[in-house]
Amino acid sequence: MILGVETSCDDTCAAVVDAADGTVRSNVIASQGLLHDRYGGIVPEVASRRHLEVIDAVIDDALELAAVGLDEVEAVAVTHGPGLIGSLLVGLSAAKGLAAGLGIDVVAVDHLHGHVSAALLAPDPLPLPYLCLVASGGHTFLARVDEPPSYAIVGRTLDDAAGEAFDKGARLLGLPYPGGPHLDALAARGDPTAFAFPRSEPGAGLDFSFSGLKTALVYRVRDLGPAEAARRAADLAASYQRAIVDALVTRTGQALEREGLERLALGGGVAANSELRARAVELGAATGVEVSVPERALCTDNAAMIAGAARFLTRLPYPAYLDLDAAARLPSAA
Ligand code: KG4
Ligand code: ZN
Repeated sequence: MILGVETSCDDTCAAVVDAADGTVRSNVIASQGLLHDRYGGIVPEVASRRHLEVIDAVIDDALELAAVGLDEVEAVAVTHGPGLIGSLLVGLSAAKGLAAGLGIDVVAVDHLHGHVSAALLAPDPLPLPYLCLVASGGHTFLARVDEPPSYAIVGRTLDDAAGEAFDKGARLLGLPYPGGPHLDALAARGDPTAFAFPRSEPGAGLDFSFSGLKTALVYRVRDLGPAEAARRAADLAASYQRAIVDALVTRTGQALEREGLERLALGGGVAANSELRARAVELGAATGVEVSVPERALCTDNAAMIAGAARFLTRLPYPAYLDLDAAARLPSAA
């Protein structure tokens, strides 16, 4: 059994994954969302303090739900970056302490590798090779996965992440934080063709850009005025969401073609978006590409994906892992 620990952002996560076949035995996520709600975004210092308060209980929960004793854990997998440095350090320290106490190994996992590996977890691991679109609040990128221990980024956002675009748009429309799910729900009642928003395809490659879209919404809301913007909120949400999803799906289609891949996995919190899910399935039906959308708890930040990725990575014995450091950015970071 591999115990996974993930604290790169604002969710304290622990999970137990069977090293032999990638079965998720437990996947515990203690979300801090509401804690940061009043600030309209994540406050790093608040996030790391909360991680520290709950990490032990979250790990205990993961073991208990998996019905796995500490004596059955053979390695602790932990996210060492990219992410908020203070948050990462809490998980990393917990992992090192636990491993040292138990006399077991540590596996350092790149958070993004975790996201792209979620599709490899049991019971329906996606066969290799595949393309993975990861769109969350912190990152948006396309990666090709040929072998489980690695991935290659083929496109990434040049500015905002797609989830950030959702959250900032939601805020402009007066919705609570994090706004993605609220905007998704509001958009369902609106007309996606009511307003024209830009679809950016920066450069000749497979990169994304969402900052112009957000600016377009700022101006649109300002031009409409508060009363009219409130009255047309559903149409604004639907049109804005359509623009984000169009940008994601267009690049994904191009990437599948250019890379010659016939399988697609979605990951990141934005994979929960109803329009993106539907459009990915449509893309698959139109092109014959096999589409895998792991369950939501495996798409958003979680420790099962970290423990899952660790199955394919080198284990560090004591005392080598004591030198591990957290990194806000990794060389591969999107
Ligand atoms: O992966 P995640 O839980 O955390 C990281 O950012 O790493 O992703 C959270 C992001 C937020 O920006 C949130 O608004 C967005 O995913 N999100 C959604 C939906 N559910 C979550 N965006 C659009 N539609 C949704 N249904
Ligand atoms: Zn993430």
